Amino acid sequence: MDMEKLVALCRRRGFIFQSSEIYGGISGFWDYGPLGVELKRNIKEAWWNDMVRNPPLAPGGEDIAMVGVDCSIIMNPKVWEASGHLGGFADQMLDCKKCRKRFRADKVFCYFLTEGPIPMLEFQGPLMKDSWTPTKTLSCEANDTNEAFSILQAMHKRLVEKKKLRPSLEFVTHQTPLDVPRRWKLPCPDCGDEGELTEPRSFNLMFKTWVGAVQDDSSVAYLRPETAQGIFVNFRNVLDSTRLKLPFGIAQIGKAFRNEINPRNYIFRSREFEQMEIEFFCHPDESMKWYQYWRDVRIRWYTQLGIQSERLRPREQGKEELAHYSIGTTDIEYLFPFSEEPQELEGVAHRGAYDLTQHAKFSGKDLSYFDEQLWERDKSKYPDAKAAQEAKSKEPYRFMPHVIEPSAGADRFALAVLCEAYAEDEIGGEARTVLRFHPRLAPVKAAVLPLVNKEGMPAKAHALYRQLKGSWNVFYDDKGAIGRRYRRQDEAGTPYCVTIDGQSLQDDTVTMRDRDTTQQWRVPIAAVADELRRRLEPTL
Ligand code: GAP
Repeated sequence: MDMEKLVALCRRRGFIFQSSEIYGGISGFWDYGPLGVELKRNIKEAWWNDMVRNPPLAPGGEDIAMVGVDCSIIMNPKVWEASGHLGGFADQMLDCKKCRKRFRADKVFCYFLTEGPIPMLEFQGPLMKDSWTPTKTLSCEANDTNEAFSILQAMHKRLVEKKKLRPSLEFVTHQTPLDVPRRWKLPCPDCGDEGELTEPRSFNLMFKTWVGAVQDDSSVAYLRPETAQGIFVNFRNVLDSTRLKLPFGIAQIGKAFRNEINPRNYIFRSREFEQMEIEFFCHPDESMKWYQYWRDVRIRWYTQLGIQSERLRPREQGKEELAHYSIGTTDIEYLFPFSEEPQELEGVAHRGAYDLTQHAKFSGKDLSYFDEQLWERDKSKYPDAKAAQEAKSKEPYRFMPHVIEPSAGADRFALAVLCEAYAEDEIGGEARTVLRFHPRLAPVKAAVLPLVNKEGMPAKAHALYRQLKGSWNVFYDDKGAIGRRYRRQDEAGTPYCVTIDGQSLQDDTVTMRDRDTTQQWRVPIAAVADELRRRLEPTL
């Protein structure tokens, strides 16, 4: 699939626009247009319905307890001290002193060219200039080693063709992300100038602002880089106001902001995006069971919404990749057309008791959980009030819950849905572009089309449109030849078209047309709503 075609379609049909486009845009920010906003709302509603209101049953067949919150974007900066974001939420960055571009160190790859026998290079430690000096070095930015390999190979070929490199310069050495300290001067991946890259430096990804009238250190605040912390700091409030018992989850959908160094791949990595996060609190002894449960539930959710399973893969992170708080994390990845390696759609992380422990420490508040039921069962075992009081304040009655966190990106999923849905085929010898959205996610569920704009057809069509739009987002279109109107709906991903034609005036039936098969069949006009309901809302 050609990403450029998808991006063009998204703009042309009103899915996604560049933010502030008339002023030349702003890197890493996007706007959703009339069709895009419906698609994204459908994604968030599907998530909220399937995970918060009606989550799949627990492995033992019990109901899952889940509630939602909607927290502020700006919180007390202490939250970010406790969570570790102020200290550690940073990327290693390098700058080119010449062209002033900034790069993530782990996304810059380089190749070493040499003449004569090829030295063995193992990138396990710092490379010393003295140990081996390449004749020339090429570098590029890429998502992964495979992508880097093809870019650098093409670069090498071009330079040889342009006679800027001698063909005798060979390279078969490793390419590696630039996270290894180096002593020699590397070329900038953008302007190509050698010796202009700085050493890697830490760069915090949080957006800073000031709260109130005075802009000094005491009023500094941050736009949240994840919605999760709003949930952790409200753990006690939710517990006290709902009297929920473990295990239970707290969910939130909302905006998050990261000053990403290199926003790239359309809406895949942006600076403002939306997350759909669950913090599922459980007893430490049961945490692995729930980690498994959420991995399975979340993978199934994507496939149920039409993501082909072979493009979707769960990947257990290696120990070296894990965030400082995580005991284990599974990335649910999707093979996007812009990369040779699947990329993260969602992370399901086992966060242990890290966050609650940190917030308890920094706030001085007790965020532990008290198992009342267990205490009621055991309390008579203790001989006197003092022994009972002492036991009550400790394990197994009082403890820090463990947390399993399925954390998904609404925009990343929207991009996966668009990539997955995009298809080009041929209908009656004519090429068409179609977005084969799952009906639950399709921005427009049905289009109502009078065959011609006369003979009473518009009135009948309009009455049907008014009836249907009470239940779904439907579209009325009376402009142009019927074939062209079908194509327009196919391109917008509308699953069904309903056409009012000559026969409708005689027997009150209409033609329904299926987007994917293009099959048509007749239905009594009075039965259209039921027919649509049956097709659009099958139980998951
Ligand atoms: N609370 C955990 C957390 O935030 P994360 O892996 O950094 O974990 C979770 O983010 C999800 O948020 C990702 O899997 C991705 O879908 C989405 N996400 C993260 N950064 C993003 C960005 N710059 N642009 C779009 N989506 C992003």
